[in-house]
Parts: sequence; structure tokens; C-alpha cells
Amino acid sequence: MVYGKMRLVYAFILMMGVLCLYFSMETFKELPFVFKKGHGEFLQLPDIDCKQKPPFLVLLVTSSHKQLVARMAIRKTWGRETEVRGQHVRTFFLLGISDSTDEMDAIAQEIEQYHDIIQKDFKDVYFNLTLKTMMGMEWVHHFCPQATFVMKTDSDMFVNVGYLTELLLKKNKTSRFFTGYIKPNDFPIRQKFNKWFVSKYEYPWDRYPPFCSGTGYVFSSDVASQVHNVSETVPFLKLEDVFVGLCLAKLRIRPEELDTRQTFFPGGLRFSVCRFRKIVACHHVKPLDLVTYWQELENSQEHDCPAV
Ligand SMILES: *[C@@H]1O[C@H](CO)[C@@H](O)[C@H](O)[C@H]1NC(C)=O
Ligand SMILES: *[C@@H]1O[C@H](CO)[C@@H](O)[C@H](O)[C@H]1NC(C)=O
Ligand SMILES: *[C@@H]1O[C@H](CO)[C@@H](O)[C@H](O)[C@H]1NC(C)=O
Repeated sequence: MVYGKMRLVYAFILMMGVLCLYFSMETFKELPFVFKKGHGEFLQLPDIDCKQKPPFLVLLVTSSHKQLVARMAIRKTWGRETEVRGQHVRTFFLLGISDSTDEMDAIAQEIEQYHDIIQKDFKDVYFNLTLKTMMGMEWVHHFCPQATFVMKTDSDMFVNVGYLTELLLKKNKTSRFFTGYIKPNDFPIRQKFNKWFVSKYEYPWDRYPPFCSGTGYVFSSDVASQVHNVSETVPFLKLEDVFVGLCLAKLRIRPEELDTRQTFFPGGLRFSVCRFRKIVACHHVKPLDLVTYWQELENSQEHDCPAV
């Protein structure tokens, strides 16, 4: 009698176990964090015909609706450059959509005037930055594979387009090339309330593959197509720079240095004319400072700086 009861209990436990296993497998089967490449429509395309006149370098700047002042400063400074060291260069802004009709109207006017915005119909919020970056990759893949190089950068950056062009010409590596401020050994932050928190469910491993700081990285345009291509096959992360790093690892493309000296400064750098002549990118630059730096650089002469 007691023996029969025990058998029932065992059978019950076994059944619960099988159910648990089944449900846990169900949740893994339906990983919610998978990127759908090519999802959504392009709402705006910039005014460029890459087939007609292939650019040497396209700069794609992640921006948001509220950052009009930053966009204007970029349009007046490094974004204005179109002929650099004899090479064709263009700068465009990456944008999503806003809930506010005022903001959408303002952008429509801006587009009418400058034709330099790439926009898709995803919600423009910080944690959709990966979607914004992947929109840039998709745009290069579909509309501008003729470009030689692409830079992805941010709205609060100083970019020395001239020096970047010079280094890219010198490097002369036009396929499977990826450079920037390399983070070779970064790891996921597991503290729940950190801005960059990544759960073990999203990313179970203890290390990220090498990636470049999202403040500014540069690559040969074939990389855009290849990253776009593999983007559905790696875990989706809202950290866009790590996500691109996962794609690169899958493609076996290793980020490499652009120069023997440091040229990307994601942590910022104090301005001096001679220092900023020999860097590619610097973070934490306010719009007004950007305009001032640019004027000082334009008013200075090469020979004012010591040769190095
Ligand atoms: C990102 O955009 C999509 C599409 O518009 C939206 O459904 C989603 O809620 C957005 N993500 C966040 C974190 O708001
Ligand atoms: C760039 O590399 C190619 C081969 O990859 C070579 O033919 C060409 O001469 C190089 N150009 C310069 C300027 O070094
Ligand atoms: C995309 O991936 C498929 C298979 O994974 C491959 O055959 C194809 O060549 C890739 N295309 C590009 C542009 O890398």
C-alpha cells in the first residue's frame, strides 16, 4: 500500500521534470533576441548616386531628432568636406522615427534643405542603436557598395576627415578591413541597474570578441554587406558596437590598428591644433567647441606644428 503511494509520487516527480525540461526547451526555441535583417522600410534616402560617382569614404553619423544643433555643427565642419586629398567624401545622418509630430515635421524640413538623412521606421530611442547601425550597414549594402570605406560615428565627435583619408590611402587595404579604438578583452556587465547590463540569457559567455568603440569605427565597404548578411545568425545585443563585433567574429574579420600611434580617442582629448591634426576621432566634443576647433585648425599652417 505504502509502496504503491511512493510509486505514484515518483511518477509525479518524473512527470514534472519532463514538463520543466519541455518548457525550458520551448523558451530556447523561441529566442526573442534575433535581429531581422532588412526589416522595415527606408523612409528617407540621401541625395547621392554612388554608382555614378563612387565615394572614397562615407561617414554615417548616428543622430536623434533632438540633436539639430549637433547636426548643424557637423554640417559646418567635418561633414561639409566633399573633396579631401583628391578623394570624394560624403557625410549622412542615421535617424529613426519620433512619436512627436513636431519633431517629425522639423526633420521633414531639414531633409528638404539638406538631403543628408537616412531614415527607417523604427522608434528612435537609445536602446534601438543597434537597429540604427544596422540600417547604415543595409544602406551601404543596397545603395552604396561602390564606396571604398565607411565610417560609423556619433553626433558628439570631432572627426579629422583629412587625416583619416590620408591614413586610409596609406594603409591601402580595401577589403575585410575594420579599424577603430579596439577593445580586445571586454566582458558583459552583469549588474542589473547598469546602463550597459547584459543578461546571461541575452549573452551567456564571459567575454566579448574583439570590437571597436562605437564612438567611431571605419571599415572597407564590403564589410557592411557581410555584417548585414550574418546579422541574423548572432545573438542580438542592444550594444551596437559589441553586436558588430559578434558579426565580425563570425566572419573571422579581426579589427586592426589604422596607424602605429593612437588616433581614435573615445574618452576625449584636450584640444590643441597640433594634437588634433594627427588624430582621426575624438569623443565628447560639444557643437560650439567643434566649430571653434575647426576654425582654429583651418586658420593654422602645417609648419606651425613640430614634425613627428
Ligand atoms: C525599437 O523600435 C521598435 C520598432 O519601432 C519598437 O517596437 C521598440 O519598442 C523599440 N525599442 C525600444 C527599446 O523602445
Ligand atoms: C595598393 O595595393 C594594391 C594591391 O593590393 C597595389 O596594386 C597598389 O599599388 C597599392 N597602392 C599604393 C598606393 O600603395
Ligand atoms: C551571405 O551568406 C551566404 C551564406 O551564409 C553566402 O553564401 C553569401 O556569399 C554571403 N553574401 C555576402 C555578400 O557575403
